[in-house]
Amino acid sequence: MKVASIVGARPNFIKLAPVSRELRKRMEEIIVHTGQHYDYEMDRIFFGDLGIPEPNYHLGVGSGSHGYQIGEMLKRIEEILIREKPDAILVFGDTNTTLAGAVAATKLNIKVAHVEAGLRSFNKRMPEEVNRILVDHCSDMLFCPTNTAILNLKNEGLTEHVCLTGDVMVDVQKDWLVIAEKKSHIMDKLSLKPKSYHLATIHRANNTDDPKKLKSIASAFSEIGNIVFPCHPRAEKFLKDAGLWDMLNKNVRIIKPVGYLDMLMLEKNALKILTDSGGVQKEAYLLGVPCITLRDETEWVETVQEGWNVLVGADRTKIILMTREFGPTGGQKNVFGSGDASPKIAKLMEEMN
Ligand code: UD1
Ligand code: UDP
Repeated sequence: MKVASIVGARPNFIKLAPVSRELRKRMEEIIVHTGQHYDYEMDRIFFGDLGIPEPNYHLGVGSGSHGYQIGEMLKRIEEILIREKPDAILVFGDTNTTLAGAVAATKLNIKVAHVEAGLRSFNKRMPEEVNRILVDHCSDMLFCPTNTAILNLKNEGLTEHVCLTGDVMVDVQKDWLVIAEKKSHIMDKLSLKPKSYHLATIHRANNTDDPKKLKSIASAFSEIGNIVFPCHPRAEKFLKDAGLWDMLNKNVRIIKPVGYLDMLMLEKNALKILTDSGGVQKEAYLLGVPCITLRDETEWVETVQEGWNVLVGADRTKIILMTREFGPTGGQKNVFGSGDASPKIAKLMEEMN
């Protein structure tokens, strides 16, 4: 069997790492990189950190409007699929790369498998929500990380070829945390002591592209002060455009985005995590670090239900209050699986043929 894994953005690479390793034990895999992310810190660093094989194709699409990105990806992925004739393609998560890969393959009658199927925020203004819905509805195999995801698909009439695999992010963290402990020097490099700082990330269009919300978040971060902030290029651009960068830079430790190993160490040792990232919310839960989510809703509802995540939107007062007061207790459950999602996915892919 031959499968083409289609990736292009930071979280796609991280999810691909454990799945690719398992796929290659059972079948031929080629990797197609759309080029959606391209800065060293958003792209190459993950291939090194996680030992991901070199992509067979790099399509170099880069940044642009949704229409430009998806259109260019669709054209260029189609050419590769016609040339390579894979039996199936695999897409990950909810990025524009995920959507373009799924549509290109469906139109060529190539089977589509979706890793992280069934997630819903129920907010269609979020570009990722539209991507998820469209990809799930054209997929031939739906790999769900949670029972909630299975239920979401059922509510949309999708019950065939729906498999509960657990979340591949658990696999990555389980396998790479030990390596990160040995290899990452980020704590020393930044002279940080464990449990002495907060960690923040923001990149959601809903926060970065809205000057009012961005100002409210930046002002809360400044007030809290003791924050390490690996800054996504989208956030950097909008903070600079809004004239907020210098104010934030005075009170918050802004650094370039970091690799996966450094990120794990920064997360594990943080007092609290403030984020609008999907992956980071889950990682905070798995590491037992309280998470303050700068969104009004989350698709990772289990983190909230289990008491380790609180939703504060872009509300300055709530961000500051929860950073001071949110103090969950109790342990973690296996709500995202037990770290064997990738071998399950590889086996199911083989059976799909
Ligand atoms: C994308 C995904 C989002 C995911 C995020 C992970 C979509 C619709 N969104 O959002 O689901 O959570 O990736 O990080 O696919 N840029 C650079 N260098 C890069 C990449 C981006 O400077 O290497 C800047 C460009 O100004 C670009 C902007 O960031 O226009 C946004 O990049 P884009 O890939 O369109 O979306 P993300 O916000 O990264
Ligand atoms: N991440 C990273 N370095 C950073 C910020 C995030 O390695 O500077 C990792 C993070 O640990 C998680 C993933 O990127 O595994 C989440 O991706 P992102 O926040 O870009 O996207 P989302 O999960 O929201 O789609």
